[in-house]
Amino acid sequence: MDGRRIVLGVSGGVAAYKSVYLARRLLEKGADVRVVMTASAGEFIGAQTFAAITKQPVLVDLFVGISPHTELGQWAELIIVAPATAHSLAKIAYGISGDALASTVLASRAPLLLAPAMHTEMWEHPGTTNTMEALRAAQHTIVGPDSGELAGGDVGYGRMAEPDEIVFAAESILSGQPLAGKRIVVTAGGTREPIDPVRYIGNRSSGKMGHAIATSAARFGASVTLVTTSHLSTPTPIDRVQVETAAEMAEATWRVAVGADCVVLAAAVADFRPVTVADHKMRRMDGAPDIELTETSNVLAGVVAMQPKPYVVGFAAQTGSLNDAKRKATEYGTDILLANDVSIPGRGFGTDTNEITLMRPDGTTEEWPFGSKDEIADRLMRLVSDELPDRPGSN
Ligand SMILES: Cc1cc2nc3c(=O)[nH]c(=O)nc-3n(C[C@H](O)[C@H](O)[C@H](O)COP(=O)(O)O)c2cc1C
Repeated sequence: MDGRRIVLGVSGGVAAYKSVYLARRLLEKGADVRVVMTASAGEFIGAQTFAAITKQPVLVDLFVGISPHTELGQWAELIIVAPATAHSLAKIAYGISGDALASTVLASRAPLLLAPAMHTEMWEHPGTTNTMEALRAAQHTIVGPDSGELAGGDVGYGRMAEPDEIVFAAESILSGQPLAGKRIVVTAGGTREPIDPVRYIGNRSSGKMGHAIATSAARFGASVTLVTTSHLSTPTPIDRVQVETAAEMAEATWRVAVGADCVVLAAAVADFRPVTVADHKMRRMDGAPDIELTETSNVLAGVVAMQPKPYVVGFAAQTGSLNDAKRKATEYGTDILLANDVSIPGRGFGTDTNEITLMRPDGTTEEWPFGSKDEIADRLMRLVSDELPDRPGSN
C-alpha cells in the first residue's frame, strides 16, 4: 500500500470510533490517507482525531476552498466509506451529492469500498435492501456487515466489518488482483505425530509463513485453500482445512490440489512417525519406552507427480549450509524452492520475519532481502502470478 492514495469517508454511526483504528492500520501499511466526514459523524468522533492521526486536514464542510470534493475525488486511488450509514449509502446509490462525503464519492472514478453499519432493523428495511441492490449492481465492493453486538447492547446483523477485514479488501482492490481466476493451495504449520494420547513428535513451525502466503494469494484475487495445523486466524475468503498429522496433511493436500494452478508447500511435515500409538498415557514408572519410527507419506512427491502438474513452490528449512536445499531444488520437481537458514535469529520458525534464497531446478539462485513474512509472501505471489501459465494445468 506504499504511497497509495486512499480517501476514508466516515458517516454518522457509532462504529465511527473503529474508523480511527482503520485509518491507523492503513497508515501503518504505508497508505496516504485523507478523511472526509459527514456532519453527523462529528456527533460520534471528532475531526481533530483523524487530523492528528493522518496529519492532514479533514474535509467536513463542502464550502471551503475552491472545490474540495472534486480535488479529493480526483486525488483518490480508492475510496473507503466506513462506517457507511443507511443514509449515506442511499445518497451514494442514488447519486444525491448533498454533503462533502457523497460529493467526493460522486466526483471520483476511484473504486469504492463500502462497510455498512447499522441496527438490524435498519439493515433489513426494504429501503436499505433497495439501496444495497443498487450499490451491488454498480459493482462497488461491500464488506460486511457482520453479526454481533450492536450499539446499545442489542445483538444481531449490522455490525461494521472489523477494520482488518476492510484493510484486507482495500489491499485486494489496490493489488489489481493479478491472481484472479487462479486456484492456489497452501500448506502451513508443523505436523504432530502422536506417541500416546497426550504426547507427540512435533517441530517448531508456527504456520506464520504459510498463513501469510495464503492471505497474500487471497488478497491478489486467487481462490485459496489452506491446509494447516496452525490455529492462526485467516481472512474470510480463505477455504481452510484443519489437520494435525503428516498423514492427514498428505491426504488433504492431495485431495484439494487436484486441478489447482499452484501448490505452495510451506508446512513442516514430519519425516517419521511412531509405528504404534499407545492407547494410554505412558508412565515414567514403566521406564523409558523404545519408540519405533517409520517414514511418513511424502506430501511433496505426491504433488509433483500429479497430472496435470501444478506450479509447485517448495520450502526447505535448513540449519547452516544451504547445499542440501540446492540438491532438493534440482531433484525434487519443484518449480521453485525457497530455502531459509532457521538457525539464524529472526529467520524461520515462529518469527514474523524471514530471509529467503530462491532456488530453481537449473541450479540458479536468487537472494531475497530480509523482510517481514507478509512482504515475502507478497513477493512470492507476484512471482507466481508472473510465472503461472494462463490456463490451469497447462504447464
Ligand atoms: C446514537 C445513534 C447511533 C446511530 N447509529 C447509526 C448507525 O450505526 N447506522 C446508521 O445507518 N445510522 C445510525 N444512526 C442514524 C444516523 O446518525 C442518521 O441517519 C444520520 O442522518 C446519518 O447521517 P450521515 O449518513 O450523513 O452521517 C444513529 C443515530 C444515533 C442517534
